[in-house]
Amino acid sequence: MSMDKKYTIGILTSGGDAPGMNAAIRAVVRTALENNMNVIGVMHGYEGLVNGEFRPMGARDVGGILQRGGTVLLTSRSKRFMEPTGQREAIRKMNEAGMDALIVIGGEGSMNGANALSQQGVKVIGLPGSIDNDIWGTNIAIGTDTAMNTIMDAVDKLRDTASSHQRAFLVETMGRNSGYLAVMAGIVCGAEMTLIPEVPTSVDEVAVAVEEAYKRGKTHAIIINAEGSGIRTTDLAERIDQMDVGFKTRMTILGHIQRGGSPTAYDRLLASRMGVKAVEALIDGTHGMMAGLKGKGIDFVPLADVITNKRQVNMEYYRMAKVLAR
Ligand code: F6P
Repeated sequence: MSMDKKYTIGILTSGGDAPGMNAAIRAVVRTALENNMNVIGVMHGYEGLVNGEFRPMGARDVGGILQRGGTVLLTSRSKRFMEPTGQREAIRKMNEAGMDALIVIGGEGSMNGANALSQQGVKVIGLPGSIDNDIWGTNIAIGTDTAMNTIMDAVDKLRDTASSHQRAFLVETMGRNSGYLAVMAGIVCGAEMTLIPEVPTSVDEVAVAVEEAYKRGKTHAIIINAEGSGIRTTDLAERIDQMDVGFKTRMTILGHIQRGGSPTAYDRLLASRMGVKAVEALIDGTHGMMAGLKGKGIDFVPLADVITNKRQVNMEYYRMAKVLAR
């Protein structure tokens, strides 16, 4: 660390926002200030890094944001930053602003960007933030627990009306190419069946599951369809409704509701812990790494490993959801 200039950390959020990102920003800023460092907030993710959209972050700038969803630094999916010229420009802007290190909060794509900067000599720490929970190297990402709770609340409400009318509800969850949210929703929402990208499922199989639920005397049936399952929820609903499965069907696409809202206690705590650890890691000379929850502790894993490994859905949970649907 230089003696004449305060060590300066840049911080940005990138990709899809996730509840708890603000809690992580707050933790980074306050831990840095506690250690006599400066923090510069980068607006609009990597796009703002390329453009030099910077603002100094003081303790009061992160007041009252712990409980807020979204990200006060705003976010984007930057095409320009994916190109080497954009990355070179970003590094130039960082140097001009006197940034010694960068903390990136985001999902898989954001960790790719963080690794690209790291390869070019920038001191980077990644924090996993994504409702999809598809990032390798952490048990769970910031925002996933809140999204899960949002799905659970929504399906509980849908179940009320589903059983009153004796209907089958097809509910679409987010998750991009990962079935994580859908599988976990299958368990916590008591779904009859869960369709995920990892397990190809036919419309006929869904029809059988709904019909069997009807024959077993259930008052309703809930089918969770992950957005990446390969079957569009609208098509599925239409085709099941045309079949004679006992229940009439309705569908709900939860969409971006899953990305918003006040972070749960779990997400606030996870984000705070990761934010603190990220700054402490930089102080210890660690970089080129992502914070991950391993067991009960926060560990650091190389960004190079994060981007080359694919996080798999634990199929034990998929089987469990099936057993519990009886
Ligand atoms: O990665 C988070 C996520 O919400 C995915 O679940 C979803 O596929 C995607 O982002 C939606 O992206 P956008 O907000 O750009 O439509």
